[in-house]
Amino acid sequence: MNAETALRNSAVPAGLLQSRAPRDTFAAVADAVCTGLLRKRKRLPPWLLYDDEGSALFEEITRLPTYYLTRTERAILLAHADAMVEAAGLPREVVELGAGSASKTRILLAALSRRQPRLRYVPVDVSPSALSQAAIQLRDLSLVDVRPAVARYPEELGFLRRPAGGRRLVMFLGSNVGNYDPPRAVDLLAAVRRQLAPGDGFLMGVDRRKSPALLLPTYDDNLGVTERFSKNVLTRLNRELGAHFALDRFRHVVTWNARASRIDLYLESASAQRVAVDALGVKVDLAAGERIHTESSYKLTDARVRQLLERGGFVPEASWTDERRLYGVHLARVPLD
Ligand code: TRP
Repeated sequence: MNAETALRNSAVPAGLLQSRAPRDTFAAVADAVCTGLLRKRKRLPPWLLYDDEGSALFEEITRLPTYYLTRTERAILLAHADAMVEAAGLPREVVELGAGSASKTRILLAALSRRQPRLRYVPVDVSPSALSQAAIQLRDLSLVDVRPAVARYPEELGFLRRPAGGRRLVMFLGSNVGNYDPPRAVDLLAAVRRQLAPGDGFLMGVDRRKSPALLLPTYDDNLGVTERFSKNVLTRLNRELGAHFALDRFRHVVTWNARASRIDLYLESASAQRVAVDALGVKVDLAAGERIHTESSYKLTDARVRQLLERGGFVPEASWTDERRLYGVHLARVPLD
């Protein structure tokens, strides 16, 4: 089932959809394997992690006691939603990149809908099922016009080019910016910036740099949920490309790279193995202990966040943090000229 079909079958009312299905998921997955696994330093692109099952597992991660990011971000939004929407200029349209299930977003939307009666919310995600969750989550905010869009970003943001009919706020929460290498993060911010008008806002949640003693267990929980999330990428390749990855022959490995200030997630081959990928007619050779890189999570100082925003063409305007200063939410603006 491709993304478009999945979307049509999902719980999102059909009338609400602007379908931006990834044009050819099979080709993209095949390309990820060819360019990522048939080379020396093996890696898979993070978007592969988020099929329906991956998105559901990710939701589970966000509820883990060790995973402080989501609840800390939620606490910051709860404490400061009013100030945030005021500072953003009471936008008419809120676009959320990587909306997931939108459970935090509703805090902002609720605060905003009290002041901005003509409010449109555009959750953007690669996962149709996450978008239908988002629509369900927000059913009771009856004043908000919800228009989900399936799209990959930054490649497929062109649909934002249509006028919003007022001020727009783009949100990028969950420290998802940290999953991009800094130059790619700047590219992404610049791509968003290009779709916006002067005065529009950008709200970004970012995990702050802190001790690896706290960070490592965050990505290596003792319940094995993050491990299942990470390994789901192999299940996906098995299903979609007829690959023959045996999940128990891989280990979930988490490292802290202090110089780059990032957590890295790997799938480490427990033994030497050759894995066939039937749909592509190729074999992937892995040495014992060889790692496939699947995800990075950069941890950013406030100065670094400001630098990224500025390089993306935004002007940093305000930021909020929690009592323990674990996490930051930053508001920036498109300059007026
Ligand atoms: N952006 C969040 C983070 O860096 C969520 C996330 C993305 C994540 N990929 C992940 C969490 C992989 C755990 C594992 O933490």
